[in-house]
Amino acid sequence: MTVVARTVAQLRSAVADLQGSVGLVPTMGALHEGHGRLVSLAAEENSSVVVSIFVNPLQFTDLGDCDDFRHYPRDLDKDVAFLEKLGVDVVFAPTDEAMYPDGLPQVWVRAGEMGERLEGASRPGHFDGVTTVVAKLFQLIQPDRAYFGEKDAQQLAIIQRMVMDLDFPLQIRPVPIIRGADGLAESSRNQHLTPEAREQALVLPRTLAALRDRAAAGDPLDVEGAREALRSAEGVELDHLEVVDAATLLPVSEVGAGALAVAAIHVGGTRLIDNVRLLPPRA
Ligand code: PAJ
Repeated sequence: MTVVARTVAQLRSAVADLQGSVGLVPTMGALHEGHGRLVSLAAEENSSVVVSIFVNPLQFTDLGDCDDFRHYPRDLDKDVAFLEKLGVDVVFAPTDEAMYPDGLPQVWVRAGEMGERLEGASRPGHFDGVTTVVAKLFQLIQPDRAYFGEKDAQQLAIIQRMVMDLDFPLQIRPVPIIRGADGLAESSRNQHLTPEAREQALVLPRTLAALRDRAAAGDPLDVEGAREALRSAEGVELDHLEVVDAATLLPVSEVGAGALAVAAIHVGGTRLIDNVRLLPPRA
């Protein structure tokens, strides 16, 4: 049976009843197959699974005073039904007041320089909001393992660094990107796309896949050509496309073990991100 906790007190009592190892999957809801994969892996690797569903105002523009926050898709009943089917033990779905009873926090966890590049350059303060809420979830639930998608590569790198820098006693488990049949990475924000916008958005996975194929063939990458393909695509506005090291997020010029092409675009008013690993030809 799945317990739904709406307050910190309910969560603490539900977590106290769990036996053995605990896997945590933090989410903002509007759950899809990408989230589902994180939950399934957590269930395979732990005795119990806790999923949090909280659209965290701290990580949105103006601390949530923005349309992106107001229009973020929310459907708790549907999400709980989805998680019940996956056998989740506890769903933590607090209100803003339950999570931040004294108003927004005074004391934050700062993501530092890793949070100022790429996504952080377009969304100032975003990663400070992520690290602060994730630190709070780790404190509240004290999981043995926490699951994060490689879809949000910068978030994953920053959380891994936070766990190292602040000595959180848990393991971060990265999960590969889940894509729709057309190649678009699953995202809660895809709900905002019209069929036409979704078709236009496909230039993002296709451009990244072309870079991956060039790397695998040993051809020169032509990152500028890939940027141009996104800039000139109909209905698409390019935010950034960079090749970086997956752990440090610093630019790299060579393909190799940690090299990642990361990109963000806007399509029909929706911001989409995606990335691929760039591996050299197999020896
Ligand atoms: P959200 O966007 O709901 O994503 C929750 C988790 O699901 C993240 O770790 C994300 O990387 C993963 N995920 C999303 N789409 C995925 C896909 N297509 N394939 C694989 N994994 C995918 O990320 C957040 O929420 C928030 O920032 C959060 C960490 C919950 C803090 O508020």
